[in-house]
Amino acid sequence: MKAMMITAVLAASISGLALQAQGTAHPIPRIVQQNGRYALMVDGAPFLMLGAQANNSSDWPATLPKVWSAIEYLHANTLEIPIYWEQFEPQQGQFDYSQIDSVLAQARVHHVHVVLLWFGTWKNGSQHYMPEWMKLDPERYAHVVNRNGERVDSPSPFAQASLDADIRAFTSFMRHLKAVDPERTVLMVQVENETGTWRTLRDYSAEANKLFTAAVPDDVLKAMNKTAANGAGWAEVFGTEAEVCFHAWAIARYVGQIASAGKAVYPLPLYVNAALRDPFKGEPGTYESGGPTDNVLSIWKAEAPAIDVLAPDIYLLDTKSYLKVMELYHRQDNALFIPETAGTPHAARFLFAALGLQTIGYSPFGLDYTRTNHPERMAPNEPNAFLDPTAQNYKLLGPMMRDIARLNFEGKLQALAEAEDQPGQTLHFGSWDAVVSYGGSRGGEARGNAEPIGRALVAQLGDNQFLVTGFHCRVDFHPAGTAQQQTTQAIVVGTGQTPSALIDGKWQHRQFLRVEEGTYENGVFQSDRILNGDQTDWGLDFGSDSEVLRVSLATY
Ligand code: DGJ
Repeated sequence: MKAMMITAVLAASISGLALQAQGTAHPIPRIVQQNGRYALMVDGAPFLMLGAQANNSSDWPATLPKVWSAIEYLHANTLEIPIYWEQFEPQQGQFDYSQIDSVLAQARVHHVHVVLLWFGTWKNGSQHYMPEWMKLDPERYAHVVNRNGERVDSPSPFAQASLDADIRAFTSFMRHLKAVDPERTVLMVQVENETGTWRTLRDYSAEANKLFTAAVPDDVLKAMNKTAANGAGWAEVFGTEAEVCFHAWAIARYVGQIASAGKAVYPLPLYVNAALRDPFKGEPGTYESGGPTDNVLSIWKAEAPAIDVLAPDIYLLDTKSYLKVMELYHRQDNALFIPETAGTPHAARFLFAALGLQTIGYSPFGLDYTRTNHPERMAPNEPNAFLDPTAQNYKLLGPMMRDIARLNFEGKLQALAEAEDQPGQTLHFGSWDAVVSYGGSRGGEARGNAEPIGRALVAQLGDNQFLVTGFHCRVDFHPAGTAQQQTTQAIVVGTGQTPSALIDGKWQHRQFLRVEEGTYENGVFQSDRILNGDQTDWGLDFGSDSEVLRVSLATY
């Protein structure tokens, strides 16, 4: 009897602890919006995800060590890694949680967070991660069929049996996460992977054809801001975009049901990732149809409200396209989050451009040591030129990421990446302008770096105080005059020049009151020394070292 009581008391206190852990100690991560800006809240405060995504086939006991060593080298604070439906439900209705458990346990040992990618019905438009028992029954778990009535290598969004099976598997996965992750190691879950279909614009099954000619649902008309005659079908309303809009509607509805069932079980932030279309000339047929491409974001928002973020996988490397894509996904109703991007060295600078659009996270793809077709990327524990630019970013930003996320959420931060044709860029902060230049020598004209690798971040801490960091750039401050009035006047002080502006008929000249170089310890800026003389007379120079400055300004 006594033993039973002790057991009961123990059980009650354990469940109390579990409740405490789930309810108070570590609140469930969430995405919040304030004045049109977003933050990913982790442990109750804005968090900047500095991530790396593992290769597709890396989530196995044999390969995980090659993932962790890369994560460590990169100073990433989050690993994005898949959960494979085929491994998770090898027999129908029998779920294997071992892979989830081992990733979580190992992530905790490495002190990093995790984003889990549900490779379910869709993976890059295919059904390749469906369990064998589904692959062997294409009658029941139907494929898309093309115009000629042939099965395509893509799952049909009208296959009710597939949807039911995915909902069962995904909710079981989320239920398990809720039970085993009171620490909130998992920050977000990606639902499916690059949904959509290649090589045909939509499903041409009899059921799909019937819906295609039926009236476009009112919520789609409203979301896409279309007015149409009563009963107008997809072709009439959307013209050349009819097929891609229809396929997006069908897939978003399917994924929306999975997301909402999963969220009801455990309300973690959920997102879907997009294989992009060319942001300047994305004609139907030139991209994967049906996923959350920029032209159908509003359809996805309307049909899949349980999805918090529609997120671009950015592999376009020219600066204009990269910036354009970010602009298209940074919307009032959508936080910018980049779950995949090229891990190539020159792309590392785009993290700063993404910060300039308040990204909540950034994660280059395939940065582990498992690839055999890229031997230059596979040198665990040795200097690695391929990984270094990303490692440089994360080493610098990791210790200050809470401040960056908070300042960005408060609208006090601006950041940018060097563009090929712009050796100088200006950021406006009330009575100060921060002028960023690239590739200039002392007193000489900025010409841009030989390769565009510059990046800069400036945050306003007070009226006349800024946090400044970056790589391969120079930052200086000008009193904000009007465009015509502002000049870098050749008032020579010692060796340097003083940026000045004519304000209300009086010249105002910038002076540095104090330039502190410091380091972040436990998330707090510690001043290590004061820079002056050659280190400030020509502006504030940043090279390839991790340097953070706190700059106090005045005018005379
Ligand atoms: C985008 C996909 O989402 C990833 O899983 C991966 O296949 C990359 N493309 C390319 O390797």
